[in-house]
Amino acid sequence: MIILLTGGTGYIGSHTAIAAIAAGHQVVLYDNLSNSHAQVIEKMHTITHQKIPFVQGDVLNTELLYKTLVEYKIDAVIHLAGLKSVKDSSEYPINYYHNNVSGTISLLQAMSRAGVKKLVFSSSATVYGEPQYLPYDENHPTTPINVYGRTKLQIEEVLRDLVDSDSTWRILALRYFNPVGAHASGLIGENPQGIPNNLMPYVAQVAAKELPILHIFGDDYATKDGTGERDYIHVMDLAEGHTAAIDYLINHEGFRCINLGTGSAFSVLDLVKSFEHVLGSKIPYQISPRRHGDLPKYFADASLAHELLNWKAHRSLLDMCHTTWIFKKNSKKGS
Ligand code: NAD
Ligand code: UD1
Repeated sequence: MIILLTGGTGYIGSHTAIAAIAAGHQVVLYDNLSNSHAQVIEKMHTITHQKIPFVQGDVLNTELLYKTLVEYKIDAVIHLAGLKSVKDSSEYPINYYHNNVSGTISLLQAMSRAGVKKLVFSSSATVYGEPQYLPYDENHPTTPINVYGRTKLQIEEVLRDLVDSDSTWRILALRYFNPVGAHASGLIGENPQGIPNNLMPYVAQVAAKELPILHIFGDDYATKDGTGERDYIHVMDLAEGHTAAIDYLINHEGFRCINLGTGSAFSVLDLVKSFEHVLGSKIPYQISPRRHGDLPKYFADASLAHELLNWKAHRSLLDMCHTTWIFKKNSKKGS
């Protein structure tokens, strides 16, 4: 199949493109480069030994999307383009609704006109909100506690309504848990601008001595060691989940939401210890106050993905830390 990846030069998009090529698909990248760099495409060429077409454009540009779908004879779209900062989403809600929700509607209009009706959408475990029970399964109530999560939930609702109105659409919304790690080559990975908000990139910067110390946000939660617990998933496992989703759409109609997680929770201290093992030295940390809006613990019931997509995450926490560190060292050398 020929797959268009919106947000294709971003962290998850670049890894997903590589997994799709490895599975025998052709890909076209579409991105406005608002949170990524064109240089990643060269790295992707090195990894895949292929030239990958890239269109620089915004998903809000329906006309350019339409032309791209037609010109490249696209069969299916993986829609990863979006803004993802929880903090920014509460400061700039209109930007977030415009970019994420209106951007998706623009894409759907272009796809409809071009007759491309297979779509995989990047949703998030953030749609669940405060856990009523754990692990979260796909039937768990969805009451997101931040604007970012509400943009994802609204998009899911648009997609469900679309499929209800026209059964020729086939759509999967993948609810990601906590993607971390990098491609084994260490050539591509997560490279946030400024001081990272998320744990793994922060730990990597402390390991590289770019930041002096890790602040652990709370050690008094009702978790196994008092620190927050999350379902960290290796980005290459996540990427392979997308190709499994594309395969599913070839033979199945309708709309489904599916968790992509490992089904296990690790604490902040587990992750720090694992990273220290890779590094061979200590990560300096201090216990700081809880971060506002943090949940103590959440993780996926990953059984639906196994049942429907025949997909399971298999890479370890150590592998997540190891590849993060290889990528970090490589990007330091390059900078
Ligand atoms: P990322 O920022 O690295 O990638 C997103 C890409 O989309 C970037 O390259 C950016 O330039 C592009 N983009 C943003 N707005 C655009 C627009 N209007 N038009 C065209 N391109 C646009 O983020 P990521 O971590 O790779 O996330 C990919 C998707 O997965 C996002 O939709 C995000 O909300 C979702 N997601 C991410 C996580 C995570 O932890 N990384 C978790 C759950 C869901
Ligand atoms: C955050 C987002 C979530 C998003 C996810 C993507 C918030 C409130 N939630 O989730 O919407 O889907 O990223 O991966 O921002 N921690 C520290 N010190 C740090 C950073 C984090 O102790 O410097 C702790 C946190 O308190 C948490 C754990 O590490 O317990 C993971 O944090 P993080 O990587 O930010 O992910 P989430 O909070 O799960």
